[in-house]
Amino acid sequence: MKKQKSKKILQWATSDVVLNVLVYLLNLIFILFLFIGAIYINSVSDGMKYESWLTDSSNFIHFFILLVLLVALMAGYFFFEDRNFLKNPVNSEMIFLIIEMSLLICHVSGNYLNFYVRPLALATLLTLFLTDKKKAVFISMIYCLLTFLFDSLGTANITIDEYPIMLMGFASSIITVFVLENVYSRIKLLVMSLLLSVPSVICVGMMLINSSNSSWWIELIFSACSGPFTVSAFIVLLPIFETVFTKVSKFKLAELTDHKAKLIRKMITQAPGTFNHAIVVSNIAEACAIAINEDALLARTCAYYHDVGKLRRPEFFKENQADGINPHDDLTPELSANIIKSHTQDGYNLIMKNRLPKEIADVCREHHGTLPILYFYGKAQKFTDGEVDIAQYCYAGPKPQTKIAAIIMIADGCEAAARSLQDRSRENVKQVVRRIVNERMELGQFEDCEITLKELNIIIHTVVNNLTGIYHSRIEYPKVNLDGIDLQ
Ligand SMILES: [Fe+2]
Ligand SMILES: [Fe+2]
Repeated sequence: MKKQKSKKILQWATSDVVLNVLVYLLNLIFILFLFIGAIYINSVSDGMKYESWLTDSSNFIHFFILLVLLVALMAGYFFFEDRNFLKNPVNSEMIFLIIEMSLLICHVSGNYLNFYVRPLALATLLTLFLTDKKKAVFISMIYCLLTFLFDSLGTANITIDEYPIMLMGFASSIITVFVLENVYSRIKLLVMSLLLSVPSVICVGMMLINSSNSSWWIELIFSACSGPFTVSAFIVLLPIFETVFTKVSKFKLAELTDHKAKLIRKMITQAPGTFNHAIVVSNIAEACAIAINEDALLARTCAYYHDVGKLRRPEFFKENQADGINPHDDLTPELSANIIKSHTQDGYNLIMKNRLPKEIADVCREHHGTLPILYFYGKAQKFTDGEVDIAQYCYAGPKPQTKIAAIIMIADGCEAAARSLQDRSRENVKQVVRRIVNERMELGQFEDCEITLKELNIIIHTVVNNLTGIYHSRIEYPKVNLDGIDLQ
């Protein structure tokens, strides 16, 4: 795995590295200007402190060094924790923009509305819905430290202790991550936003209740409004980030798995067999994603759409041949294989045409990797009595590029195999799942997605549990002779 990772670093194009360095440098300068701008604006209300900033450059140097350290910490975190995310400079720019927008909104609302109403958890909430939980927790730390720097060095009219405010912001952000993580309705989000205000209310209450400030209760009301204010700003900003960075938020994913979504409706009516298969695969994929700490909702959505390409010719796929008519009977094995193979690219095209997220389209194209279609390959061998080029019977790929795509590949293969099993005992299902994963490993299908052996073992265990749960053996009901029994 170490060898694989170092190979990945070398695979970075020079343009990726240059663009990433540029993004980090330009944003460092931009945050510095934001900070200077904040001091300049504050100079209107407190000229003395601004004056001291101009004469005492140590403040500026102090801030600059801390800012460089924070930005370097961010780059280091992404480099060691999620290199794929860092590789795309657009992702780095999105994270910086989230931080900068949040700093700006916090500064403006703190200065012109009320200091305690500031949406301190906004950066965390945006990161949570546009990326994942781990990144949201990390960004909440960076953002709280940045706000602390702004408050302690840049906010001229501040008269309170900044340490409790930093703690309050961090507590609010952590509540955001763990309470709002699985909330996909905007109304529910607004109702639950009151929970985000709890740390602010406690903190402000403790700081102001014994102070000489007679209007402490007004500050308390403003602090209680900080949660709903955070969520309102989030609801306005999220669609902008989704559009600009073509990102898929959890809201979007929840909408896409609704049975009223356009392509899902089409599958239900035109390819019901494929739709039912997708539902089972989605349950397995979701459980696997949870087990290895991947995005469960993204896995579920990708599974829903992984075979959407079959909509082009649904009757050519076994699960939709309810009337027993198989059009492949009249075709050559080569032509049949071409039709089967094309459902991956057809799915990709259909998803892109309907402007659905590219992450889902990529899984469509990758979920069979470069695997051979053995049924038609065997049929061709029988027909020709000679050598058949296996390359013509292999999916075009690419191989799974992400762990989610690998999960879908395994869940898809195992579901189809388990469905055709006569003996669905746990031991037999376990053997089949192991065989499917081993075959794919031997054919190098997981080479490009950094999935570990440990994760594959967890996935095997999860798939077996799910499949035995779905296809459990039922008690055979005895036939009862109802003749002569009066049920009235
Ligand atoms: Fe497929
Ligand atoms: Fe499938």
